[in-house]
Amino acid sequence: MKSPTPLIAGNWKMNGLANSLAEAKAVAQGVGATQVRVAICPPSILIAQMSEALAGSKVLVGGQDAHADDTGAFTGDISAEMLADAGAKLVILGHSERRDAYRESDALVAKKVLAALRHGLEPIICVGETLEQRNAGKALEVVTGQVRGSLPAELKGKAFAVAYEPVWAIGTGLTPNNPQIEEVHGAIRETLKAMFGEEAEVVPILYGGSVKPSNAAEILHAREVGGALVGGASLKAADFLAIIQAV
Ligand code: 13P
Repeated sequence: MKSPTPLIAGNWKMNGLANSLAEAKAVAQGVGATQVRVAICPPSILIAQMSEALAGSKVLVGGQDAHADDTGAFTGDISAEMLADAGAKLVILGHSERRDAYRESDALVAKKVLAALRHGLEPIICVGETLEQRNAGKALEVVTGQVRGSLPAELKGKAFAVAYEPVWAIGTGLTPNNPQIEEVHGAIRETLKAMFGEEAEVVPILYGGSVKPSNAAEILHAREVGGALVGGASLKAADFLAIIQAV
């Protein structure tokens, strides 16, 4: 059985100014020649500068969202083509904060994935249940439904990652225990295999939600965890490096 190459991605969300590039450079220096794939997804306005600052390093730069269309009258939006043009290699799509605040549906996320593929960006597609859904015993149903609805068939043979981010674990300091993570990641893997065949064994399934240096090793060694999508703890190079080193 093949296994995925681990990916640790930092999602800066709406944090970071031009002087935060120093943190990204410190990450690039600190990772050296690691075998782990590392990415930072800063606010889009920093992507071009960060791509230049990290050129030649092991750290890839990614976007946090992309519009489903390439161009058009969409004030304030940014297309996948623009992200790629600015140097991004990956893009986070369907983050729960966007599904919630901007009412993004599975169908819209799937269209955004197609846009990413058109421009050679590796999508990191986020899924995850709310606490209410978990308490109702619906976590697996919700998450596998999001995987089926948000991942278009065109992903077959392409590089992509899925990130399981329980909504109740994001920014709260709460995390599921390893059996809970393994149950959901196992269900995602089975769904991916049903959709894309055995080749889906190499798709990294990232865990996200309150990952920090003190819990990273435990979470990253859970079965079917192929890396992490890190929010708050990715803003400080020392913390992000500690998480990368915990793989
Ligand atoms: P935190 O690591 O801050 O909980 O955020 C997780 C997340 O939403 C990453 O996309």
